Amino acid sequence: MQAGAAKGLVLVTGASSGLGEAFARAYAAQGRNLALVARRADRLEALAAELKQAHGVDSTVIPADLAVWDAHEPILKRVADEGLWIQTLVNNAGFGIPQDYADTEWERQRDFLMTLVTSACGLVHGAVPQMIANRSGAIVNVASMAGLSPGGAGHTLYPAAKAFAIKFSQSLDAELRDKGVKVTAVCPGFTLTEFAEASGTQHLMDKAPRRFWQTAEEVVATTLKANAAGRVVVVPGLHNKFAAAAMRYLPDSWTRAAIARGGAKYRIEKKE
Ligand SMILES: NC(=O)c1ccc[n+]([C@@H]2O[C@H](COP(=O)([O-])OP(=O)(O)OC[C@H]3O[C@@H](n4cnc5c(N)ncnc54)[C@H](OP(=O)(O)O)[C@@H]3O)[C@@H](O)[C@H]2O)c1
Repeated sequence: MQAGAAKGLVLVTGASSGLGEAFARAYAAQGRNLALVARRADRLEALAAELKQAHGVDSTVIPADLAVWDAHEPILKRVADEGLWIQTLVNNAGFGIPQDYADTEWERQRDFLMTLVTSACGLVHGAVPQMIANRSGAIVNVASMAGLSPGGAGHTLYPAAKAFAIKFSQSLDAELRDKGVKVTAVCPGFTLTEFAEASGTQHLMDKAPRRFWQTAEEVVATTLKANAAGRVVVVPGLHNKFAAAAMRYLPDSWTRAAIARGGAKYRIEKKE
C-alpha cells in the first residue's frame, strides 16, 4: 500500500494506564485515530470503546508484551495490514525496578531494557520511513527528570534508559526536523499514575510532598504543546524546571549527594 493512500494514526505504547492513557485521550480529543499498545487487552478495549463514543475516533487495539525480542515487528505489521500508518508515535511504556542491580534477577533488568529502550527504538525505526515519505510525523519519547539527573542506587538502569531517550530524541530531531517530523522527549517528575503501584513502592511514594506531583493530563498537555512547537526536550512543571536548572548548574558532587539522599527514600532494600 502507498504511504499516502493509507490513513495516519497515533500509536501509543503503555496506553492501558497513566500517561499513555492520558496521551490516548488527548489525541482522541483532537479527532485522531489511535493504535493502543500494552499487555492488558481488556483495559485497551474499554478505552477504545470509550474514545469511540466520546470522540468518534477508531482505535486499533494491539495487545503486546514489549519485553519480547523484536516486539515491534508484529505491531508494525498489524498497523500496515490494516492499511494504516503511524503519523504520531508515543513511546511511553515503562516500569521501574526499585532495588539494587545485584539484588535483582537479570531477566527483570533485560525486560526493562527491552521495554524502555529496544522496543522503542524498533518502533521508531519502522515508523520513520513513512513519516518522511509523507513529510508529516511526530515522535514523543517519554523520558524523565531521572534522565537529567546523575544515577543513584536502586532503579539502577532507569536514569540511563531515560538519558538514552533524551539523547535519542535529540539525534532524531537533527536527522528529521527538515523532513517534516517533530521529535520531543518529555521529562516528567513525580506524576500521578500507576507507576509506583506497579513497582511496589506506592507506600513510599505516598510520603512525597503533594506539591511536587503533577497529573498525567498536565504532563500530556505540556508535551503536546511542546511537540507542536518543535521543542526537543521539555520539562513539565515549574518545580521540575527549577530542579532541572539546579542539576545543570550546581556542582556535580552536590547533585549526586542530593540524589543519593532523595533516591534512598524510594528504594526497596534487599531482605536478608
Ligand atoms: N509516574 C511518574 O512519576 C513518571 C515520571 C517520569 C517518567 N515516567 C514514565 O512514564 C511512562 C509511563 O509510566 P506511567 O507513570 O504512566 O506508569 P503506569 O501507569 O504504570 O503505566 C505504565 C504503562 O506501561 C505499560 N507496560 C509496562 N510494561 C510493559 C510491557 N512489558 N509491554 C507492554 N507495555 C508495558 C503498562 O501496560 P500493561 O501493564 O498493560 O502492559 C502501562 O500501560 C514510563 O516510561 C515511565 O518511566 C513516569
